[in-house]
Amino acid sequence: MQASSQAFSDMAATRNSTLDDTFYKKADAFFAANSKVGLTYDDITLATLYSEILPRNTQLDTRLADGLQLNIPAISADMDTVTESRMAIAMALNGGLGLIHYNMPERQQLSEVSRVKYHVQGLIQDPIKIAPDQLIGDVLKLIEEKKFGFSTFPVVDEQGKLLGLLSGHVVKPRYATKKVIEALTPRKSVHTITKKELGKDPIARADNFFTEHLGIHKLLVVDDADHLHGLITMSDVERITLERKAQFKPARDAQFRLVCGAAVSATRNAFGELDRGRILEHVSALVERGVDVVAVSTAHGHSKGVGDTVKVLRDAFPKLPIIAGNVTSAASVEYLADCGANAIKVGQGPGSICTTRIVAGVGIPQMTALYVCSRAAAKKKVSILADGGITKSGDIVKALTLAQGVICGGMFAGCTEAPGDVVEISGKMYKHYRGMGSLAAMKSGSAARYGHEKADTTRKVAAEGIEALKEVCGSVDRVLATLIGGIQSGMGYLGAKDLAELRVKARYIRVSPAGQREAAPHDVVELKTGN
Ligand code: XMP
Repeated sequence: MQASSQAFSDMAATRNSTLDDTFYKKADAFFAANSKVGLTYDDITLATLYSEILPRNTQLDTRLADGLQLNIPAISADMDTVTESRMAIAMALNGGLGLIHYNMPERQQLSEVSRVKYHVQGLIQDPIKIAPDQLIGDVLKLIEEKKFGFSTFPVVDEQGKLLGLLSGHVVKPRYATKKVIEALTPRKSVHTITKKELGKDPIARADNFFTEHLGIHKLLVVDDADHLHGLITMSDVERITLERKAQFKPARDAQFRLVCGAAVSATRNAFGELDRGRILEHVSALVERGVDVVAVSTAHGHSKGVGDTVKVLRDAFPKLPIIAGNVTSAASVEYLADCGANAIKVGQGPGSICTTRIVAGVGIPQMTALYVCSRAAAKKKVSILADGGITKSGDIVKALTLAQGVICGGMFAGCTEAPGDVVEISGKMYKHYRGMGSLAAMKSGSAARYGHEKADTTRKVAAEGIEALKEVCGSVDRVLATLIGGIQSGMGYLGAKDLAELRVKARYIRVSPAGQREAAPHDVVELKTGN
């Protein structure tokens, strides 16, 4: 750029209009001026600023604690209809984080964490296997029932030893009465590799293999005793090779494993006291499995039980990143930070399945809560996470002007990677989504999160969440691509190259009910939604 045009551009960037300043306020002035009313995402909008930033060049990495850095500021909620290992793997592969819920036996939660930490991208660790004495007709039935999109299967004996590969070419109705053993490609003709041979970069190794072996699309992974340990397909390898060039890299730990979080509860013993021994045992086991962060998840984080749990964990694990919550006040952020939490979940009652505000009459609309908490968090040098109530990417942009990350439940509950089966109702496909404070979820284990005992659910206990359905919305990759596109657009409009700049540059104004109507499509017959 020439000197004169550089000077002109600098002038444009720094030009200040007092008129703008009268209407569009920075956070401190705006929220102080609106201190008598609780505001949420749709109550406000952000003013745009001079920009030389292209959305695609914006950076979305965020540091939640020492040792916990994400490449996108998105976390999937620790809810039993949202995050188990499949969701956590998808979130981490996209640069975010999944928090594995605790409505399951501790042993199972540990293996869910292990699945994430030992996930080898592109390696199907537990492929569907076929027994040699099954009929081809049985295999066809299985494909039909489970709606598999593939028809080639490894064949193993009762000990899991590889016997061969049943190729899709022979899985046809005309061979229905033939036995698998008669139709399989025998072991000696099947291409295999050992885990050791896969080395540090299994995808590169498999990519080379497929180039060298013309027409071979499947590679089986075995141990030294020829037991089957996995399957790599050429189409997966090609997809991953493409993804490696993507802007946002997977979120990994220092040993190159995907990051994973797990929720823990402030468990009490039979006498109603905090069960320190059990909490420590649980978290020690999680740490042993390589968990990157634990979330002490409750509905009321500003309480002795949560504070004491965080203190116990901080003393026992000085370096372990700890998320705690949920809260909506400055005092509660300071309390949890003093107890040793690194990131605080902000949100009481904004969630799409929450009824806390209706049932208990408490909670603060999200933008006001985030502002108040963000100022306390800055003082204590901890981060905050905007938890619940996010329904569109614009809400995330607004949340990120005050918070270091967002936690979403409803946005991911309809994804393929969320736990639970798809149900069809009147020709539409849905997945179950329920509040952790719903009666059903509390019976499955989350009662402590709402200050109840599991057994209380048979007595008079008020549910603080509902059971609902979410329309199926495809893969997490797709949903996140749309959300990330929206966040980057917002940052482009504000001339913010990264999230730190977004927080500094944001200016707000309130929106009237007419302004809210104006903000959504109106006065047209909608043919296609934006997504
Ligand atoms: P979204 O809006 O993303 O909200 O669906 C997810 C967040 O809601 C919280 N949560 C609950 N809050 N009753 C509540 O008041 C409940 O039953 C409940 N279940 C989940 C939680 O913070 C989650 O991340």
